[in-house]
Amino acid sequence: MPPPEYLCLHSRNCTAIWELPPGEGPLWRYWGPRLPDGAMPPAALRSQRPEPSFSLHFDQPLSVFPGVGLGWFGASALLAHRGGGDWAQATTATRVEPVGSDTLRFHLSDDVAHIPAIITARLDPATDTLTLSTTLSNVGDGVLDVQWLAAGNVPLPEDAQSVRSFSGRHNSEFVALDDALSRSTWRRENRRGLTSHDCFPGAVVTCADGTAFGAQLAWSGNHVNQIEWCDDGRRHWQMGEWLAPGEVRLAPGASITTPELLATCSAEGANSVAQAFHKAIRARMKWPKGEMTPRKVHLNTWEGWYFAHDQAALKDLATAGAAIGIERFVLDDGWFHRRNGDDAGLGDWWADAGKYPDGLAPLADHVTGLGMEFGLWVEPEMLSPDSDLYRAHPDWALSIAGRPLLAARNQLVLDLTRPEVSDYLFGRIAALLETLRVAYLKWDHNRDLSTVGAQALYRRQVHGAYALMARIRAAFPMVEIEACAGGGGRIDAGIITHTHRFWASDCIDAVSRVAIQRGFLQFMPPEIMGSHVGASLAHSTGRMQGMAFRAGVATPGHFGVELDLRKLTEAETTELAQNIARYKRLRHRFHRGRVWQGETPDHIVWQAHGEPASLLLHVTRTQPTTQRHQPHLRLPMLDRARQYRVSRDGAETFMASGAWLASVGLPMPPMPGEDVMLWELTAA
Ligand code: GLA
Repeated sequence: MPPPEYLCLHSRNCTAIWELPPGEGPLWRYWGPRLPDGAMPPAALRSQRPEPSFSLHFDQPLSVFPGVGLGWFGASALLAHRGGGDWAQATTATRVEPVGSDTLRFHLSDDVAHIPAIITARLDPATDTLTLSTTLSNVGDGVLDVQWLAAGNVPLPEDAQSVRSFSGRHNSEFVALDDALSRSTWRRENRRGLTSHDCFPGAVVTCADGTAFGAQLAWSGNHVNQIEWCDDGRRHWQMGEWLAPGEVRLAPGASITTPELLATCSAEGANSVAQAFHKAIRARMKWPKGEMTPRKVHLNTWEGWYFAHDQAALKDLATAGAAIGIERFVLDDGWFHRRNGDDAGLGDWWADAGKYPDGLAPLADHVTGLGMEFGLWVEPEMLSPDSDLYRAHPDWALSIAGRPLLAARNQLVLDLTRPEVSDYLFGRIAALLETLRVAYLKWDHNRDLSTVGAQALYRRQVHGAYALMARIRAAFPMVEIEACAGGGGRIDAGIITHTHRFWASDCIDAVSRVAIQRGFLQFMPPEIMGSHVGASLAHSTGRMQGMAFRAGVATPGHFGVELDLRKLTEAETTELAQNIARYKRLRHRFHRGRVWQGETPDHIVWQAHGEPASLLLHVTRTQPTTQRHQPHLRLPMLDRARQYRVSRDGAETFMASGAWLASVGLPMPPMPGEDVMLWELTAA
């Protein structure tokens, strides 16, 4: 027998290795932390696995594209049939096409079922991220009904122990769920039509030796996230779109490409996984000037004004905002035709004549005249039954004949697969962008999808939204877009290729935000995490928090203010202005480099931003201490061989060795129940 052929991709910290037996798909031999160059499997996998009792004579290990019905008994990467036939599938030949030095394209054919697939695997040396996607074609005679197609499929080692995923709801995003992995299949599904609050499309797996694996699906729709135990003790992790019955029916000659699956891993645990994801997300983003500019301080009108827009008062607000350092004024919901509550107006994207008799130009000019950018809230994919648009085009709402229209927040969803609908929306938004100096759109999506067409249109609706965003960005390349969906209902690596900020949650309560932001930062970098200073009482929770705490919690993200400045005391206004000034001084450090997160016992959570030689350390106490003396805060990322100058909140304090701070920790002074402290550690 000829020696087996292997294929290998390395990045700085990760390695992927496949074995290529003839006449079948590539077998997964390794996905994990970096192996040295040349470290290859000692022998073909099957030669190391004697046939177990009561087993097929042809052993089928995990491949990149596991099939169904032909001897692989685990979950397949594809479930599809032609009128009940061709349901059993397996790769019969593989052609490997290298693309550059970091990408392999596996051309897999199935000469019996006539369903070829191309799996693209790119291990990016700069981000340590393995990006997988699959293209499936129907080269047979009949329509191919595709029920499931994994975007990618990666192995996990035998000692994978637990998986952290995220659940939640409106006002409570990124609730961490920790599940033990066993021989049962672990599976989460989202069928809400958009990314969703309650099923973030990603997770982190931790192994007994501390190695962590992460994966996230770059997709803003339904999805499946599944980890299954294999016969050899490994597990395999699949992600892909959840498809409704009949949603994908490929005509002969047609093909489908999945969203991308981003996977990474590190022997150093979940923080390194987050760092790789941050790099990967940064690399996916398309900034107006080619690279990120300093993240401007926002003033958003929503919680201060809701629908009760008063133009004169909003101009005063803008003036007051400019005086404390605001850089971008975002006019939220309530500005358009008959939008006096959440029960009318969506679709009628022109200024309300009662609130803005001369249109939005006077306010926009006032804002830009103060040196700030003007931003506008829109919710293009939506339609109020009480709107001129609905009265003119009731058939533009997604619906199923004979079924009731199911409203949520009094609104329906426009069918973005219809070209006339996207043309209308493009025309309306373009008119606003052309006539006003709008530099920014906050793009909302405030409901889950239902009655999504006689034949399910879920995925086409997502592609419709992406296409509309892309068209707007092509026509107005200097406009930035914020992705919002009732807060953080559409946070994912797919939409971020069209957008520049996420509104992480409608909950601005600073205590709640600590947990929400921690979950967010596991997958997304801080500069795109919209974080605002809200009012006290917090509208979402009714809790009161001091200005220093509210501003402190918002500082590492993309900072903003969302309250009626007229209601602040003079002292609070001064404190807010000082915090804005501090954010501007430090944002270039918070928003580049790496992030480490951790917690000490006794309700302290921390995040360090930068590089080990120069770190900003953001420490938050969310509840009063239960200890007489505060716990030390260990900083394992520091350079143990160096001395550090340690200062707190701008004041020089002391020198300490990196080894001491890494092993014993930074002594923590007492902090009140809700407080943020900012430390700087610089290697001397
Ligand atoms: C959603 C958003 C809020 C605000 C409102 C407006 O809830 O998350 O920030 O824009 O819509 O209706």
